[in-house]
Amino acid sequence: MQISEFIKSLEDSFAVDANSIHEIIADFHCDMERGLAGVESSLKMLPAYVDRASGKERGRYIALDLGGTNFRVLQVELAGGSKPQIIKSEKFVIPKAVMHGTGVQLFNFIAQSIKKFMLDYKVDIMKKRGLGFTFSFPIKQTDIASGILINWTKGFSATGVMGKNIVKLLENSLKRYDLGNIKVSALANDTVGTLAAKSYEDRECDVGVIFGTGTNACYVENVGRVKKMGKLKYKSDYMIINTEWGNFNKVPTTDYDMKLDKVSNNTGKQRMEKMISGMYVGEIARLIFSDMITKKLIFSKAKMKFAKGNFLTRHMSLIESDNTTRLTKINGYLEGMGVIASSIAERRAMKDVCRIVSGRAARISAAGISSILTWMDPELNYKHTIAIDGTMYEKYPGFRRNIISALREIHSRSSKNIKLTRAKDGSGIGVAVVAAVAAS
Ligand code: BGC
Repeated sequence: MQISEFIKSLEDSFAVDANSIHEIIADFHCDMERGLAGVESSLKMLPAYVDRASGKERGRYIALDLGGTNFRVLQVELAGGSKPQIIKSEKFVIPKAVMHGTGVQLFNFIAQSIKKFMLDYKVDIMKKRGLGFTFSFPIKQTDIASGILINWTKGFSATGVMGKNIVKLLENSLKRYDLGNIKVSALANDTVGTLAAKSYEDRECDVGVIFGTGTNACYVENVGRVKKMGKLKYKSDYMIINTEWGNFNKVPTTDYDMKLDKVSNNTGKQRMEKMISGMYVGEIARLIFSDMITKKLIFSKAKMKFAKGNFLTRHMSLIESDNTTRLTKINGYLEGMGVIASSIAERRAMKDVCRIVSGRAARISAAGISSILTWMDPELNYKHTIAIDGTMYEKYPGFRRNIISALREIHSRSSKNIKLTRAKDGSGIGVAVVAAVAAS
């Protein structure tokens, strides 16, 4: 087999054509309906117990943002009528041992970080105050200020947290560090924060999406359609629903996806996330390169091996951004990996692989966005702003463009009613907005 044949067959197996997109949308709607009715579904459809912002909310809030390898503490000001502003913010890297240790260690680490932030910025620790907590994992809520972790994602595995109320765990740790005056007043997923943050300045915003280490989306639902909720105390007719679309499982898979899933620490789960998000797409490309090496299609002279962990999404991003005629950036990367004499054909093949993997990610993402939009508004008669945050969207070359062109292909003229907009820091800022909406 030649490189070109391999690339051609790869292109075919990764293609998500118009038919597949329409199938995905139909299956997605089916799983949304089931999730809202409380029956077994790959979409959890979690009520967030909050509506969009009116833009009039005011106040100063401390917010926590936990969801990836970094943890952030922020102070956010809502002045009403303008963009929420971050006044202070500090990032803490969560040590691997803490991510995989016990829940008590994890929440103690968070409490210590909050204390450091408050002392560094001279925020009075004795004052009674509410805190907004962005917790970017699937949580089952029955009100705005508590929630039970359903399962970890994105490689987290701290013990003793699943099935527990996150807010209790955090408040117990806060007490241990003399921060007992702080109470969590709002708990929200990062997508919910992102939607809330954008809706503060744009009333047409009704979908929030994260394309980062993980992926997920939420949207504004009519409470009457949330069949599983029954009668609960909730004051608005609309509520944000966290779909947890990363776990959607009716996506066309390849052998590489199966391989990746099999060795992951959550086999069978987060199937859509494993095709789209920053934590996984680099690994899919690496599996393809390894296959090409085994088939002696590339680097047969260099005896190069791509070990797990050696090739990440940021390398993929670098490769796809190489627009030089001789692909010198890719050459530089390969030299760094010990491949001294790569051919242009090998380098081009690497770029093709990355294009194919990221192109599929964008088309599946567009299918997800389209599913949510047509669930809310089948003919796309109204304008919709989609607030998006996350490094894949912000940094990956062509990812945004490919999503937009797929949406145009799916919706032709009605795609003019879809506006994708970046909600920078949405997940951090947003929970302050959520706290304010909940308090209003
Ligand atoms: C989590 C979601 C989260 C998303 C983006 C996924 O792995 O399950 O809750 O919103 O990552 O951070």
